[in-house]
Order: sequence, then structure tokens, then C-alpha cells
Amino acid sequence: MSKINIAIDGHSGCGKSSTAKAVAKALGYKFIDTGAMYRAITLYFLEHDIDITDEQAVKAALENISIDFQHNPESQKNETFLNEQNVEEEIRGMRVTHKVSNVAALKQVRVAMVAQQQAMGKEKGVVMDGRDIGSVVFPDAELKVFMTASTEVRAKRRQLELREKGQEVALDEIIKNLEERDRIDSTREEGPLLKVADAVAVDTSEMKFEDQVQKVLNLAQQKI
Ligand code: C5P
Repeated sequence: MSKINIAIDGHSGCGKSSTAKAVAKALGYKFIDTGAMYRAITLYFLEHDIDITDEQAVKAALENISIDFQHNPESQKNETFLNEQNVEEEIRGMRVTHKVSNVAALKQVRVAMVAQQQAMGKEKGVVMDGRDIGSVVFPDAELKVFMTASTEVRAKRRQLELREKGQEVALDEIIKNLEERDRIDSTREEGPLLKVADAVAVDTSEMKFEDQVQKVLNLAQQKI
């Protein structure tokens, strides 16, 4: 059976990562959460007080950053490592979430991340989720999905996720953040969030998680 690359793009919090992860598991493919990479860079910038308007400082910081994913068999999760430190918990918190879209809009950051992501998908057999996967990272991906869901549904799901991690965040704050990230992601010059013509649109507002996964798996089976 031939291996394909699957690109899953879409708005913040519509279930891209969980769907991509489940699809990858079912197909025996590698799952790559590119949002985690931008989040890890943001954490580094916050911890080292990097001024994102200072191109030299951003360049120097990027040279000192290495990002890696490791599978934790206990939690069954792919965990994100920044310079060999496990940052999986920290990058999901609101401190990083509030800043990540500004960092992800920087050209130098995107060029560095896109190169790494393309290298990860060279051998095919990858399910990658993000904002620019079908448009920039893998414009030749055999399957492209553009996921979305209503803001309210997305915010409620995000609130639950955070609650499960012990963080209580008001719905209003989450809605404001989702809308702000969507705005920045969709209007930036480099790799903006958009639905490319050959992507299949999937609105998950009314869908159960299992159905979301099955829908993408059905689409994938047609290409394999
Ligand atoms: O997917 P997630 O919500 O974790 O991504 C965090 C942020 O990283 C997004 O709001 C977006 O600004 C940025 N991002 C991006 N390009 C990607 C993936 C994420 O700009 N491919």
C-alpha cells in the first residue's frame, strides 16, 4: 500500500490535532502537531525576553532552539521537547496561547519551521495539522482537509481541555483569544490560514469526535 501525506488545516480549537492524531494512529502514520512547534518557540521567546521586533535577536534565538517530539508510552501522547526539556504542559497554557500568533507571524520563524516540517514529511506517511500545511508545507499532499467549527463550540471544547489539565479559564477569555488568533493567522503575509481550492472542508460543529476521524479516514482510503 502506498503512503500518502495528509494535511489538516483550520481555525484554532476545531479539533484538528486530536483528529490528526487518531487518523495517524489508525493508519500507522506519524502525527505532527505543528502548532506545538510554534508554541515551543513562543515559550523560548518569553523565557528569554526576546523582542520580536528585533530581527537579529529573533535570528540568534532561532539558532539556539531545537524542537523535538517524543512518544510517551504511558500517556500515549506525543510530547514536545524544547532544547531537550519536556515543555508539553507549559506550551498549552494561556501564557503561551496569548502570544503564539504574534510569534508565528514572523517570517524568520515560519521559514525555519516550514523547512523542518518538510523534512519530517519527506518519506510520506505523515498526518500534519496546522494552518499552512496544504498551502505551504505540503502543497502536493495527496489529501488536504480544512476543518472548522463555530466559535462557541470551539471555545467550549477548549475550556474542557484546559479544565482537564487543571486550568480554569472563562469562556469569554477563550472566545476572545480564539477570535484574535484566527484574525492574526488569517491576515498575516507569510503562510496565512486559508482554505486551498483542493482541500475538503469539514465542519465539525455538529460532529462527534469518532465521526470526524472516520470522515478523514474515508477520504484517506480513497487516496491510498
Ligand atoms: O494549533 P494550535 O492552536 O496549537 O497553534 C497555535 C498557534 O500557532 C496558532 O494560533 C497559529 O498562530 C500558529 N500556527 C501557525 N502555523 C501552523 C500551526 C500553528 O501559524 N502551521
